[in-house]
Amino acid sequence: MNKPSPTAFEKYELEVAESVEAVQQKIKRERENRAYVSFGDYQCVKLRVEIASAVKKSLGIRDAGDIRLVSPPPHVFGDFALDVFNLAKKLKEKPEALAQKIADGIKAREGDLIKDAFAVGAFVNIETHKEILYRDILSQILELKEHYGESDVNAGRVAVIDYSAPNIAKPIGVGHLRSTIIGQALANIYHKTGYSIVKDNHLGDWGTQFGALIYAYQEWGDEKKLAENPITELKDLYVRFHQFAKEHPEAKDQARELFARLEKRDPELIALWKRFRDLSLQDFARVYQRLGIEFDTCIGESYFTKQADQLVDECLDKGFCRKDEISGAVVVDQIEKIPSFLLRKQDGTSLYLTRDLATLQFRIKTFHPHTILYVVGNEQDLNFHQLFAFAKRAWYLSGNTEAKHISFGMVLRDGKKMSTREGTLIELEDLISQSVNKSKEILLHKNPDILPRELDEISEMVGLGAIVYNDLRQSRVKNISFDWKRMLDLESGSAIYLQYSYVRINSILKKLKEVYGGIGLDKLEKDEIAFEYQSEFALAKQLMLFPEIIAGAQATDSPHRIAVYLEELALLFNSFYDEVSLLKTENPKLRASRAALCQSVALVLKEGLGLLGVKVPKKM
Ligand code: ARG
Repeated sequence: MNKPSPTAFEKYELEVAESVEAVQQKIKRERENRAYVSFGDYQCVKLRVEIASAVKKSLGIRDAGDIRLVSPPPHVFGDFALDVFNLAKKLKEKPEALAQKIADGIKAREGDLIKDAFAVGAFVNIETHKEILYRDILSQILELKEHYGESDVNAGRVAVIDYSAPNIAKPIGVGHLRSTIIGQALANIYHKTGYSIVKDNHLGDWGTQFGALIYAYQEWGDEKKLAENPITELKDLYVRFHQFAKEHPEAKDQARELFARLEKRDPELIALWKRFRDLSLQDFARVYQRLGIEFDTCIGESYFTKQADQLVDECLDKGFCRKDEISGAVVVDQIEKIPSFLLRKQDGTSLYLTRDLATLQFRIKTFHPHTILYVVGNEQDLNFHQLFAFAKRAWYLSGNTEAKHISFGMVLRDGKKMSTREGTLIELEDLISQSVNKSKEILLHKNPDILPRELDEISEMVGLGAIVYNDLRQSRVKNISFDWKRMLDLESGSAIYLQYSYVRINSILKKLKEVYGGIGLDKLEKDEIAFEYQSEFALAKQLMLFPEIIAGAQATDSPHRIAVYLEELALLFNSFYDEVSLLKTENPKLRASRAALCQSVALVLKEGLGLLGVKVPKKM
């Protein structure tokens, strides 16, 4: 056994201090040096601004409100349709009459991008200078490359994203999968809109269960097993404790006592706890690496016990809570409709919520965030209502920082919630292996000659992609389940479908290069970018929307908007592909333009999937 080290906790505090310093530096660097793409330079935004200004001028008003643009159905004239319903309501006018007024106003003066307009019911159908718009969209994408879609809408802001947060000393289960996937996607999306990000893994590394674990370890711990398979051994010890405690209830009291000693930082127990923590982190690192996730900080609950204690004293002093006369516990009474809760237990130990309060205080002091996201399942809805309500009342949370609970639905298995006790919980690594193996079968079936090394690499991307995408393509508040058929559907609605679309485009471009000795983009001047068919223009229009889709996904914390967008993009690409043969395009300028279109679609597919945390293979 390790020698009890009186400095184990201090070492941990040092590790935290180092990681905090590193993120602060990162934020500073980004503030000083980060180059932003201006949102206002995107064609989608320019078009909207032009439309808004035309609407304002036509009606002689100052604010045109939210400009809602939709694509008119294919048989209808116009490239975009402006829905005037809300504006009509605001101005107390008949939508049809208003649409007519706006259309007349637009007709009277031509803009940079707008050419003509017609009123149809409550819509104004707008025709743009297609050639100009088309050319500008593609040349912008080709110029910005992987920066396309980035913006400055949140430049200078900091977001702390609290996600994953598994409990140590047991394997990561699928319960923490959703937080991990959604949190990472939001981190990517927020960053893309200009935020600086602090990715914090708020580990569940404190609480009475560690008393139980220490008890079990001292009684039955097996060094050899711990070295070989740390997490399994720790989990087994914990389970064994609970079986034992059923017959020997006094063990529970002893475990509680051990935890109370741990809270007082008993050096011997702290050393043990630190060891369990380090072993757990090493184990978790494997899954995080596979998912491509790196945290800036892993500041667990354990870090905040002292601060939590001080904070409770302070709140008692200021009268934000009270000591229960009989039990001695510290209580917060009902705040509006939110039920009363404890800040300190009868035996003086801290609680999950209190540690969260101290965490919140620490985050605000250390990172000055504009936003803090708590990516945690909906079974903790009440906890976060209580946390935020109290934090506001006691002035830990003020107008400068918004704290949001990013709640999400459960993971179901055969329609039911999984449970550790009933043995229906799937460990995350098992789930991943299952998905990777299924992907392997599909890939082999499609391409029996694939090399083993390639098969391994690609099935990892496809298998992980299936899990991640399955989660993100649906609205996050819904429950999800693992329907492998749908998750690995080659035809639609899956990561593999989008990955295949991406690979297909690349192979077309490769063919083009082989046949013509290059794709000709280097010889294409910007003003020569041209198109012939409606399907090409429709595809470019969709590409144009990418920056706005990202901004919208950020503003509403909805990664699924990006998934929906990408599926539409892939669908439009397929229509284009059915109609147009790139290889048979004789005119070299048109051919190069089409190559530019294909390259742009591939780029946006790759970037969009990347934001969701899904990688794309070069071939499949
Ligand atoms: N470890 C917690 C759990 O598994 C989640 C922690 C979420 N973050 C927070 N700041 N409370 O339930």
